[in-house]
Amino acid sequence: MLLRALFIFLLFHGVFVSAEDVQQMPAMHHLFDVKPSADISIPDSFPLNKNKQIDCQTCHGIKDMKDQDFKKIDKSDKDFFREGPYEVLTDFCYRCHEKKPYQRDNVHKMLDSEGSIIEDNCLYCHQEALDPEQDIKPEERGLRLPAQNICYGCHLYTPHFNALIHQQKPDEDMKKRINKYEQQHKINLPLSDDGEIMCTTCHTPHQIDVISREKPAGKQVVNSDMDEGIVYRKHPWNKVFIADKKDRLETLASQTGKKYALNYQRIEKEILLRLSAKDGTLCLVCHEF
Ligand code: HEC
Ligand code: HEC
Ligand code: HEC
Ligand code: HEC
Ligand code: HEC
Ligand code: HEC
Repeated sequence: MLLRALFIFLLFHGVFVSAEDVQQMPAMHHLFDVKPSADISIPDSFPLNKNKQIDCQTCHGIKDMKDQDFKKIDKSDKDFFREGPYEVLTDFCYRCHEKKPYQRDNVHKMLDSEGSIIEDNCLYCHQEALDPEQDIKPEERGLRLPAQNICYGCHLYTPHFNALIHQQKPDEDMKKRINKYEQQHKINLPLSDDGEIMCTTCHTPHQIDVISREKPAGKQVVNSDMDEGIVYRKHPWNKVFIADKKDRLETLASQTGKKYALNYQRIEKEILLRLSAKDGTLCLVCHEF
């Protein structure tokens, strides 16, 4: 996964910095003045130098990068990284590096090409691979961690906007609505041991058809393409959305010294969700808008 690559990158990249540079390059900088191999695809809009190598201007949009005072450089400048700003650094890396080789094995990909269960993947979360044909009682699930903690380690507490705010107890009315919905639609929307909303209230960890669609635990949005995952579509409103938020984001940036990027995107294909969020079904179980 990319974190590992970043780590390796941070460990070794000092080595490529040549001593004759006028200014000391940052010690752990990415290599430069190399001709990209076939593994790398440089966007057409990223210039190479005359020897067809990546150099400062390939990655940095700031003019005459080499001659800038490195100590004073504004890393939050939107041109610091070419065609920035980028929401996360890795988005920039993926402009040239292929995403796949850096990706972690996706544990949610649970079925092989024949549709058989890949048992090794079950063992990340279960003490043994359960037989989905059996009726499994909650105490027989053999989860390695309580359900409310089982996603952490691999995912962040805040994998997306709004995930954190949801980690609380629904009030009594909402709880009743959830229970009623579960019974009427024969679906699971589990709460944590403390009655709080957790990742698996909205998400299922299982690829579709690992657990029968007839069972409450197997009811989820129909999408089995784990390689593709979630697909967002760029939306024409994005420009308006960004313009609308621009001032507030700039204020926030000057207060915190961090650069924020927001994009309005629509979910095109969803995955690993118990109910569709795209059409609002999931949200309306709990919310009355
Ligand atoms: C392959 C892309 C790439 C190339 C080529 C490249 N850089 Fe960078 N540069 C980066 C990345 C990525 C960072 C930021 C690392 C971070 O923020 O952790 C960076 C950071 C910097 C910084 C800020 C360091 C700091 O942390 O304060 C300077 C200055 C810089 N680069 C100068 C240069 C110069 C000069 C060249 C040409 C000799 C160059 N870069 C070539 C990707 C590149
Ligand atoms: C402008 C394109 C470009 C960008 C952006 C870029 N890289 Fe690279 N990176 C390269 C090239 C070219 C090489 C040299 C290896 C090659 O050609 O296969 C390389 C090599 C590396 C290597 C050494 C791996 C090896 O095969 O030796 C690591 C690690 C790496 N990059 C990490 C990153 C990270 C992390 C980022 C984002 C911070 C990043 N790169 C951004 C073009 C880029
Ligand atoms: C990322 C963690 C994770 C992985 C990996 C995982 N499970 Fe689960 N599993 C859970 C959780 C959490 C539950 C609790 C019920 C729920 O949330 O739907 C569960 C419940 C189950 C149940 C009980 C469903 C019911 O009817 O209540 C079965 C059967 C099951 N898992 C089978 C599997 C199999 C087979 C694999 C491997 C292909 C697997 N699981 C991999 C987290 C995981
Ligand atoms: C052993 C590590 C691991 C565990 C545990 C784990 N995940 Fe993941 N998850 C991944 C990987 C790897 C991906 C693939 C995408 C990526 O690299 O981020 C992923 C992707 C996802 C996606 C996005 C699907 C996509 O492809 O776009 C969702 C949603 C998700 N996980 C939810 C959960 C939930 C909910 C839990 C806890 C029940 C959980 N995951 C537990 C490793 C894990
Ligand atoms: C209130 C419902 C809800 C809760 C709670 C929630 N999510 Fe999500 N999550 C969503 C929706 C909706 C999406 C986007 C649609 C999709 O999954 O296909 C999403 C997307 C994701 C993605 C993919 C992000 C991407 O853009 O690739 C990951 C990973 C993920 N969630 C993990 C988690 C984890 C881990 C938790 C617990 C900390 C969690 N979610 C809590 C509703 C929720
Ligand atoms: C399992 C129940 C549940 C589901 C499903 C759910 N929510 Fe929530 N949501 C809550 C609870 C509880 C809160 C926190 C209390 C409150 O603000 O009502 C909350 C808070 C929010 C907030 C913050 C409100 C504020 O005042 O800041 C937003 C926005 C939100 N939810 C949107 C969504 C969206 C969008 C979806 C569907 C993708 C969704 N929720 C799905 C229960 C849920």
